[in-house]
Amino acid sequence: MTETILVTGGAGFIGSHTVLELLEAGHKVLVLDNYSNSHPKSLEVVKELTGQAFPIYEGDVRDRDLLRQIFSQHNVTGVIHFAGFKAVGESVQQPLVYYDNNVVGLLRLLDVMEEVGCKNLIFSSSATVYGHPHKLPIREDFPLSVTNPYGRTKLMSEEILRDLYAKDQTWNLVILRYFNPIGAHPSGRLGEYPQGVPTNLVPYITQVASGCRDHVRVFGDDYDTLDGTGVRDYIHIVDLSQGHVAAMKKWLPGSGLSLYNLGTGKGYSVLEMIQGLSQAVGHEIPYKIYKRRPGDIASCYADPSKAQQELGWTAQMTLEDMCRHAWNWQCLNPKGFQD
Ligand SMILES: NC(=O)c1ccc[n+]([C@@H]2O[C@H](COP(=O)([O-])OP(=O)(O)OC[C@H]3O[C@@H](n4cnc5c(N)ncnc54)[C@H](O)[C@@H]3O)[C@@H](O)[C@H]2O)c1
Repeated sequence: MTETILVTGGAGFIGSHTVLELLEAGHKVLVLDNYSNSHPKSLEVVKELTGQAFPIYEGDVRDRDLLRQIFSQHNVTGVIHFAGFKAVGESVQQPLVYYDNNVVGLLRLLDVMEEVGCKNLIFSSSATVYGHPHKLPIREDFPLSVTNPYGRTKLMSEEILRDLYAKDQTWNLVILRYFNPIGAHPSGRLGEYPQGVPTNLVPYITQVASGCRDHVRVFGDDYDTLDGTGVRDYIHIVDLSQGHVAAMKKWLPGSGLSLYNLGTGKGYSVLEMIQGLSQAVGHEIPYKIYKRRPGDIASCYADPSKAQQELGWTAQMTLEDMCRHAWNWQCLNPKGFQD
């Protein structure tokens, strides 16, 4: 029996980078993933980059028997729970699928963790729970509101964790609210390959830059921002992943329920992102202005000072790093892990 961190959804974009950072920090890891939105190759790459092997379970986090089997075979110190669906538009089309995977998945996991007495968890939440923030930068104690089923699965999950902690203070629960993770591992071997048309800005821009798509669609240039386009807090995936390693500090007994923004504290507009990627690529990237999309907000960026003070974590990478690494990944893996 070895002491190990279970990473659910460990083959995905954030999960695979976090598994790599955990291994590099000297932790033992095991992964549970059903590959519903990822490819087993990501974990092969992690093994190659770190030179370390780790157990992988192919299966569903809602599978109680499989969870019991995993916990009986390993001395699991804590769980980092990434497994879930994340596409806002899809969640509007398929709300039940989203509630089942994201909310039931968490419930099933907590149930088995409680049964086996493993009470350390890090949960992936999202800045989407802040809805339309009344001021900026966004602090963890701001009011919460959500506008779509995906956001509601995150808010419900947070509330489930709060209720659980209210009942039993022996849990150590860390909720991390991510802003906009982008970029790729500096090796160019690990990154994000969205299935179908990318719903996130940066993969869309890199696909336009490589000629897979015509032009970038910029939704709205009349917001109250520097250049009129929407502003977001983009955070390098390696910084974000390291935030999880730092958050494990809050698994010490008596840490209780903690909540942190993981962002840089700096916002960039859509046009600044296109500009940054144009520099990384070495040529202009075509774009067209479209009407605002309903529900989009002008600006969203974090106050990351709580994570800095309590976890000793702060984002290190620059916009230039994010763009260079995103482009490097796109060039080396035009079809993601299918190549
Ligand atoms: N990427 C973002 O912009 C972002 C922002 C905020 C929050 N999050 C949250 O962070 C987490 C990870 O996001 P990501 O970007 O790495 O997504 P991803 O889709 O790349 O990774 C999720 C992983 O979970 C797996 N998975 C899904 N349902 C599963 C299940 N029932 N059982 C086992 N495995 C399952 C998928 O196959 C995939 O490997 C998600 O919970 C997401 O909602 C992501």
